[in-house]
Parts: sequence; C-alpha cells; structure tokens
Amino acid sequence: TNANVKAKATHKVVNVAHRGASGYAPEHTIQSYKLGDKMGGQYIELDLQMTKDGELIAMHDESVNRTTNGSGQVRNLTLKQIKELDAGSWFNEANPIYAKKSYVGAKVPTLEEIFQTMGSNKNYYIETKSPEIYPGMEKKLLKLVNKYHINKNTLLIQSFSKQSLLKVKRLDPSIKLIQLLEFTEPHKLTQEELDEYKLYAYGIGPNFETLSEKFVKRAVKNGLQVHPWTVNEISDMKRLIKWGVTGMFSNYPARVKFAIQEA
Ligand code: G3P
Ligand code: CA
Repeated sequence: TNANVKAKATHKVVNVAHRGASGYAPEHTIQSYKLGDKMGGQYIELDLQMTKDGELIAMHDESVNRTTNGSGQVRNLTLKQIKELDAGSWFNEANPIYAKKSYVGAKVPTLEEIFQTMGSNKNYYIETKSPEIYPGMEKKLLKLVNKYHINKNTLLIQSFSKQSLLKVKRLDPSIKLIQLLEFTEPHKLTQEELDEYKLYAYGIGPNFETLSEKFVKRAVKNGLQVHPWTVNEISDMKRLIKWGVTGMFSNYPARVKFAIQEA
C-alpha cells in the first residue's frame, strides 16, 4: 500500500450543511441548499418557523429582520407577506466577496417547496424552532413528511425542546430524533443524562466549543450519535473527528468533506 495515502476517518461522519452552504449563500434559500449538496453536504439542515396563517417556512430567527429586507415576527406575518420579502440582498451586503446577482430577490422557502424542489430522497435534518410559540408545528411537519414520502431512514428531527421531540415521537415513533444541547462551560455527561436521552433520542447535538473527548466517547459508547454544531474551522473538524463524533453541522460543507478525508 502507498504510505502517502492518508487514512480516511475510520468511522462514519455525516456532513450536515448548516442552513445550506450558508457560508457562501444566503442561509435558508433554495440556492443555499443546492450549493450545500454541491459542496459535499449529505444532509440539509433547516430551521422551521410558522407564519400567521400556519405555513411552515425555513428561517432561523423568530423575526424576519436579520435575513430579509422586511421587519416583524414571523408569527405575525402571512405567507403572502413573507413571500414579498427579499431574503438574499442582506447576504450580498454582509459578504461582498461572495455576493451574487442571483441572490437578489431570493424568496423565503416553505418546507413544502423545499421538499418539492430538493426531492424525497434528500437527507433532511429539520429543527423545530420555538415550538412553544407554534402549537401544532410537529403535526404539520409530519404531515408534509408523509405527503412528500420523505425517506424516514435518513430523516432526522432536531430540537432544543425535549417536549417537541416527544411530541414527534408520539405522532410517529419511527422518526429519529436529535436532542440539541448548549453548554456555556465544559459539561460532564452523567450516566443519568445519557440514560434519559437514550429513552427517546437517536443522538445529541451539542455546541462544539465546550466539548471534550470524554463527553464524545461516553455518548458514542452509549450508542448515541454525536453531531456538534456549528463547526467552521478545519482544525476543529479534525479534532472532533479524532474524538469520534459521528457527524457535524457546518456552514462550509466542503471543509467538512476535506477534514473527513484528511482525519
Ligand atoms: O441545529 C443545530 C444548530 O443549528 C443549533 O443552533 O441556533 O444555529 O439553530 P442554531
Ligand atoms: Ca438549527
């Protein structure tokens, strides 16, 4: 064998395009999701919010202020009002080196449009955002998953809200769930916590900054997937892969692909 050939990561690491390839394109637009695919992302990560008239749309924030030219809370705007907004020009202004004419006038996509455009065999990694202000969100999500025959083997539903994940589980026990976690300082993952997650979750999604090798190894040993967010530097990616993470979220899926090959 050729000694110069670098070994690939010895375990499977899934590459999750966070809000699409959001380092290069306006987050949560169809162009961002397509670019995520092109850059080696295996999953499309998307955050859900719900409009005044009950439509699920892809947006990270509860308000449209940061990522469109409009203002107001998503829950106070109808889909028609949201469809009038430009969800791309802000990106060009914020990132002149990646600016593209095609981003001007980009629309906020509905979940339904995303399924229609990206297809039923795509791998989706969907977050129920602020589920406490959007009653019925989980039911609407599963209705669309079923309507578009989304492949449930590769579908992951994520939330910081355990209640929301348990709702999904009650509605469809076959769906794989990721419990998102956020720590401001290093956290010792206890067996009690692990046993709790194992009752309902397929894996956990901690922020990467405070993560330790022990944390990762303990969770993996307990049969949980570990998908840290949001990892944008190759050195961090490589370190996490060495620790044994089973995937990660990144705004730069091409870097994750590279890190997996190099790790
Ligand atoms: O869903 C993983 C990660 O995206 C959680 O943080 O705020 O980017 O949705 P946020
Ligand atoms: Ca998210």
